[in-house]
Amino acid sequence: MPHLIVDPFDRGRLDQLVEEGELCTLRAVAEDRPIELLGIREEGEFFLEIKDRGEDCLIRADKITRPLDSNRIKRALKRLAEAADLTIRHSNIALSPTKPPIAAEYDKKIRDFESPDFPLEKVALEVGFGSGRHLLWQAKAHPDTLFIGIEIHTPSAQQVLKQIELQGLTNIWVVNYDARLLLEMLPSNRLEAIYVHFPVPWDKKPHRRVISERFLEESLRALRPGGILELRTDSDNYYRYALEVFSSPPKIDFRVEKNRELPVVSKYEARWRRMEKDIYTLTVTAEALSPERKNDYNFTFEKPLDPERVEQLPRKAVVDEECFVHFGPRYRRADGLGGVIECSFGSFDRPEHKYLRYDEWGKVEYFPDSPVRTAANARAHRLIGAMIHG
Ligand SMILES: C[S@@+](CC[C@H](N)C(=O)[O-])C[C@H]1O[C@@H](n2cnc3c(N)ncnc32)[C@H](O)[C@@H]1O
Repeated sequence: MPHLIVDPFDRGRLDQLVEEGELCTLRAVAEDRPIELLGIREEGEFFLEIKDRGEDCLIRADKITRPLDSNRIKRALKRLAEAADLTIRHSNIALSPTKPPIAAEYDKKIRDFESPDFPLEKVALEVGFGSGRHLLWQAKAHPDTLFIGIEIHTPSAQQVLKQIELQGLTNIWVVNYDARLLLEMLPSNRLEAIYVHFPVPWDKKPHRRVISERFLEESLRALRPGGILELRTDSDNYYRYALEVFSSPPKIDFRVEKNRELPVVSKYEARWRRMEKDIYTLTVTAEALSPERKNDYNFTFEKPLDPERVEQLPRKAVVDEECFVHFGPRYRRADGLGGVIECSFGSFDRPEHKYLRYDEWGKVEYFPDSPVRTAANARAHRLIGAMIHG
């Protein structure tokens, strides 16, 4: 992770950069810990976290707004060190020209799915693509289809973006996010296929499994009639669990195959084959047309926030039957022009992590972007509104 370790320094230099407004957008200080957030512009805006460790300061991208492209973080840190004249004790921000760049135009964000404009008529999805062997192979084999790959593990998403660049592919979108949230954003009756190959079995935490009744319902909605959901697993437990999910009402059409071979073998599959494990493929076919998705939820805050209320926001999670809201550390802008509140919310097994950023007039917005448009997030948004407005 790119970072700088610097000598303690006078924050007045940062405040001047915020005032100039070109590189830095805000400096906000945590109420109860020696941490500050610094808004920085480098191909868009994100936060750097400045941790005062007494003898030195650690500066790195904060975990909620961190961009996927680590070169963006390195460039931001380098520009900051120069502009604020920081004395560097240690850094790892050298840009590596030998490493292939990531194909930034294919790195998609949740907001790209609000009213998606897919460049190709045919669209397929792969959930948890890992090393990306299957995703890259599919994209090469079917240039008429857009393959959306969604992967929660950031280094895997970065690797595949590099491969897209190296192989000159133009029909893959990579999303570094939780697939269970993204599926709800997709339009109805649109996908040719959804591939879920070797999902993590989560035997001890089954609520974290990708496949669930909700996932199946959303998949059938997003698939066009005749489109398929293909699950491959080497885990007997997961196989039995999926059978149960797929067999519970309403009745759906699915088939099961044992040890079916694909033209491409993923890293995981290769390992299980060497161990001579059985591999199950469950294929569900969507039959009917589904109604259009209702996701015109509004995530703006109509009323201003009263800064005095920030102190009174609950420290513990607020929970109702469908969602929760938890306010994390609160930060005040050093120039008094507002602040930032860390906030987790949404459904219990698919939480969102964002900042609420407010200005001197109390105008609040989510940062770095709006939540995914799900019903649980919309409900959590109403709860947040009620709490910050009083
Ligand atoms: C066991 S690996 C399989 C990778 C690949 N499909 C293959 O066959 O080699 C499971 C992958 O799913 C990803 N994953 C787990 N939960 C996810 C979620 N909720 N959304 C997106 N990806 C997820 C993991 O990061 C991991 O890369």
